[in-house]
Amino acid sequence: MKIAIGCDHGGFELKNLIAAHLKERGFEVTDFGITENRPVDYPEIALKVASSVAAGENKLGILVCGTGIGMSLAANKVKGIRAAACSDHYSAKYTRLHNDANILCLGGRVVGAGTALELADLFVDTEFEGGRHQRRVDMISEIENSQK
Ligand code: RB5
Repeated sequence: MKIAIGCDHGGFELKNLIAAHLKERGFEVTDFGITENRPVDYPEIALKVASSVAAGENKLGILVCGTGIGMSLAANKVKGIRAAACSDHYSAKYTRLHNDANILCLGGRVVGAGTALELADLFVDTEFEGGRHQRRVDMISEIENSQK
């Protein structure tokens, strides 16, 4: 599976850990930066990762900033993106099962490395359940498509 990853300065160390971990597990990981720790505006990186997922170049994305929230707000502005900021295991699993979330956002200042790696694993290892949840995800797309 192909996974896009990116971060700002609030998530630099965590992003590198997750990227290395997922590569180790055999995933094809594309790193959209940052590649050196310097202050950067998180919407720039969110747009790169979200665009690659929306275009189908990568199946899933992972974005890391200080809280995970800024990245999720920015990524969710890209059509077709369902980005979820998670800091617990249940949410990371169920946002795939029920929301078909395609980007996981993590807070480098919120979760520790051990938890973050487990959340990333749960996210990439869980498939969308479909069924009644497909209708609800379709409703989200309808809202998106109705906006000018
Ligand atoms: C950067 O200091 C911080 O604002 C950013 O990483 C993120 O937490 C925003 O949501």
